[in-house]
Amino acid sequence: AAERTLSIIKPDATRRNLTGRINAKFEEAGLRIVAQKRLRLTEAQAGAFYGVHKERPFYKDLVSFMTSGPVVAQVLEGENAVAKNREVMGATNPANADPGTIRKEFAESIEANSVHGSDSAENAATEIAFFFAGIEITG
Ligand code: CMP
Repeated sequence: AAERTLSIIKPDATRRNLTGRINAKFEEAGLRIVAQKRLRLTEAQAGAFYGVHKERPFYKDLVSFMTSGPVVAQVLEGENAVAKNREVMGATNPANADPGTIRKEFAESIEANSVHGSDSAENAATEIAFFFAGIEITG
């Protein structure tokens, strides 16, 4: 079924001017970018977005990395968008990512891994609402 997911192009990728090349990967996979904005997250915003990871050892570094430069938040739409986006991104750790995936081609490390994508349709709805008002999304 047609579905939406929340994607973030992370600071390591915006710093290297990779937004267009990453967006091309999404579009080639049949995902449509139906909302997109570039912004700089505050520490409070990044901390809240990654709140589920609060107890993890990498949380503090992750928040600091995510606030180190601009990100591009986007809503991707398409058939099975959540799963399709995760395929296009590749494994969280670029060392384990399949050839041709965004993280294999562009990620610098498990932390600076170029993109975030929602891991379920339910979380996608929450994460989309974190960044976008309904009026900003045009399918
Ligand atoms: P993301 O999909 O945005 O979700 C959580 C992020 O934490 C992950 O991508 C990585 O950028 C970062 N991270 C850093 N270290 C780890 C780790 N050991 N396991 C999972 N995620 C990690």
